[in-house]
Amino acid sequence: MDNNVVVTPWEVSGDLNEKAYAKIAKEFGVKIIDEALLSKIKAVTKDLHPFLLDGLFFAHRDLDTAIDSYKAGEELYLYTGRGPSGKMHLGHLLPFIFTKWLQERLGVHLLIQITDDEKYLVKDTGWEEIQKYVKENVADIISLGFEPSKTHIIIDSMHAGILYDNAVKFAKHVTASTVKAVFGIKDSENIGKFFFPSIQAVPSFLVSAIKKKKVRCLIPYSIDQDDYFRVARDVLPKMGYYKPSSIISKFVGSLQGGGKMSSSSPTSSIFLDDDEKTVRKKLMKYAFSGGKDTVEDQRKYGANPEIDFAFNMYRMLSEDHGATRKVYEEYKSGKMLSGEMKELAASTISRYLHELQARRKESGSRLHEYLFKPERFG
Ligand code: TYM
Repeated sequence: MDNNVVVTPWEVSGDLNEKAYAKIAKEFGVKIIDEALLSKIKAVTKDLHPFLLDGLFFAHRDLDTAIDSYKAGEELYLYTGRGPSGKMHLGHLLPFIFTKWLQERLGVHLLIQITDDEKYLVKDTGWEEIQKYVKENVADIISLGFEPSKTHIIIDSMHAGILYDNAVKFAKHVTASTVKAVFGIKDSENIGKFFFPSIQAVPSFLVSAIKKKKVRCLIPYSIDQDDYFRVARDVLPKMGYYKPSSIISKFVGSLQGGGKMSSSSPTSSIFLDDDEKTVRKKLMKYAFSGGKDTVEDQRKYGANPEIDFAFNMYRMLSEDHGATRKVYEEYKSGKMLSGEMKELAASTISRYLHELQARRKESGSRLHEYLFKPERFG
């Protein structure tokens, strides 16, 4: 890929601008979500989430097939996940907020996979520490308010039995050379990394396996996860299941701009447990601005909101799309200054996190309501 852009589940680097996304989409073979598809989505969801209107969810694989079959009354479920390698940040919220909206509009079941095994295999983090993040991340996810009767959390180490039974059947269809070519894994790397893609594939056919009939699965994720599902789409028909469909987002950028927000770089991220003072400080000190350097130039030439960290965070967390458009226009025209944009983003983020942190106090004790149990699908 050009501009040294690398996008795999385990490494994302380079300047992720619009051109880069178009290139990635082409190279990965995902389709861009166009107006016709947006109308099709709207016909079943009744309205369109701002992430669709603003092009944050920009690509897909067979989303049209999933929507058509749902419309025709066929069963569909959603599947997404989190690798617990550290604290969650605002970037991780993007697929979860969107998945919650989709689940509510479609009224369908959702599987959420927590890949503690993956993070142990690919990071230098010890097993005990990863287990600490399993607890913390699950509490964060529960705080987002998913409907417990339809939301099922699968923790890989805890649900190893049912995952392994199915992963082994998947693995028989995948060669080492495929895994090396798709994920870029080298011979010198641990053998767990070669097998792990089979584990992440399982939830995309698990409901079909339990029900012993083909059930469609739609997977929301950001583009770094696409390798997993490219392999799954090749294999599932060989196992007698449907290919999973995907709806794919761009990344939330890092505070400094350019790359993606990443937990491995604390100064690039706003974490879900950051307090108001920290949020404000990070925005004022590090946030990449699309505004001009001086007040005079900003008034005269205006900002580029698309590359502005504060604007992007405000847009992601503000539920009022009309208000976001107005801010976009005012900032772009120079009526609004960079400092004002940062202030607005700081108060929007702090309000959102404050509410999330209040709900989180009870989330830790609610895991039993959400834990995956095969009987619920039998
Ligand atoms: P993980 O924990 O790296 O990321 C969780 C989800 O967040 C997305 N993501 C981001 N989205 C926007 N901006 C960012 N800066 C950003 N960073 C991460 C990821 O694409 C992902 O959707 N292996 C997975 C866990 C997993 C999974 C799945 C994810 C298992 N099954 C099915 C999606 C769908 C992982 O480590 O995600």
